[in-house]
Amino acid sequence: MAELLSSSASLSYIGACLLPPASRRAMIRSALPRFSPRRPAYFRAVAASLRPSPVPSPVHLGCSRGALGRAFRSSHGSAAAAKCGASDPAQLRSAREDIRGLLKSKYCHPILIRLGWHDAGTYDKSIKEWPQRGGANGSLRFDAELKHGANAGLINALNLLKPIKEKYAGVTYADLFQLASATAVEEAGGPKIPMKYGRLDVTGPEQCPEEGKLPAAGPPSPASHLREVFYRMGLDDKEIVALSGAHTLGRSRPERSGWGKPETKYTNDGPGAPGGQSWTVQWLKFDNSYFKDVKEQKDEDLLVLPTDAALFDDPSFKVYAERYAEDQDAFFKDYAEAHSKLSNLGAKFDPPEGISISDDAEAPVPEPFKAAKYSSGKRELSEAMKQKIRSEYEAVGGSPDKPLTSNYFLNIIIFVALLAILTSLLGN
Ligand code: HEM
Repeated sequence: MAELLSSSASLSYIGACLLPPASRRAMIRSALPRFSPRRPAYFRAVAASLRPSPVPSPVHLGCSRGALGRAFRSSHGSAAAAKCGASDPAQLRSAREDIRGLLKSKYCHPILIRLGWHDAGTYDKSIKEWPQRGGANGSLRFDAELKHGANAGLINALNLLKPIKEKYAGVTYADLFQLASATAVEEAGGPKIPMKYGRLDVTGPEQCPEEGKLPAAGPPSPASHLREVFYRMGLDDKEIVALSGAHTLGRSRPERSGWGKPETKYTNDGPGAPGGQSWTVQWLKFDNSYFKDVKEQKDEDLLVLPTDAALFDDPSFKVYAERYAEDQDAFFKDYAEAHSKLSNLGAKFDPPEGISISDDAEAPVPEPFKAAKYSSGKRELSEAMKQKIRSEYEAVGGSPDKPLTSNYFLNIIIFVALLAILTSLLGN
């Protein structure tokens, strides 16, 4: 092996002499793949292992590193000890996994989204005090609010989440409702919602908002009704239209809201409990078909509430509704922003800046690249071998770390010798 290396180094040298200096340097460097500390890939790998990782480590904003570490080490059952803020980040993450499982088995994406929306949608921006201002504060868990006409059927969503709430005492109701809603959108194929957690819960039914804060589906003047309700929450026309796009999922059931048909050809088979009338054909897929279908209004089996129709009747709403019917990316972008804003309405966060559990923060920090780990036959050269190669270079005035100094005299001799050989061959 040593001989092979040394002879290949010698041959390389003769070839290298015939090349221009830059190519010669490259050739010599490549002959010593893992030797030269100046080799760029090696250098980059070393630098990367020293540099702080560009991937943010899991963040629980406002938590001390110690508490955070403990929270990540602990299993969901015992993580309450490391709780820092309203909800525990490790438990939030585990709860999200459980919600994903629930969605896969129960197809309950729509009702979980509705639950999150109805908890947050009671917010009144003109009231400063929490929790009087309403919003995402977990008040919807109390019978007093569940009994409001607009919330008919949402007891089913609460029952679905009950086992998860019991398992994760370190997650507030307010966070759980919003976590379930955002996860449902994402799992149905919708955009990633930039979420934060740490919402405080109200403590008793006396803190529930009064009835009548949520929009009605068939008011006398739908567009102005939508503005009245959503402006009170601090949301604008674009956000009203984007959020209405959540009706791309789910069904309306006459026995709950009084709207929709008992069943259609799209709902008579489920999945989940059959029945109701959907706004779209594929009512478990989050896309922009709601806007296309409401615009066309061609299929009698698809629902169009008066407030849905207003999105194409009102000139200001129409601009957005048309755009979203044409451009799903535009819808996804605006929906994600509006949903995120909706989920924070009225909420009081502990810590005040919130807790991030984004998947990016969860990604494992990549190991520093080690070429030897992935290459089968190549090994790090021994010190003796490195020394041997180094002396071969030095014998001809070079160094693995430095470009070879040009030896023009030797080049000319080799060139003349080659010419002489060629001439004698041609002469024969
Ligand atoms: C713009 C004003 C809105 C009105 C008038 C309205 C009205 C309704 C009605 C009447 C239902 C049928 C409920 C039932 O019978 O079970 C419903 C369902 C639904 N709503 Fe809305 N909604 C509005 C806005 C929103 C918003 C902003 C979201 C979410 C961001 C949303 C998400 C949903 C979902 C996902 C369902 C389906 C629930 C299921 O299948 O169980 N809605 N909505």
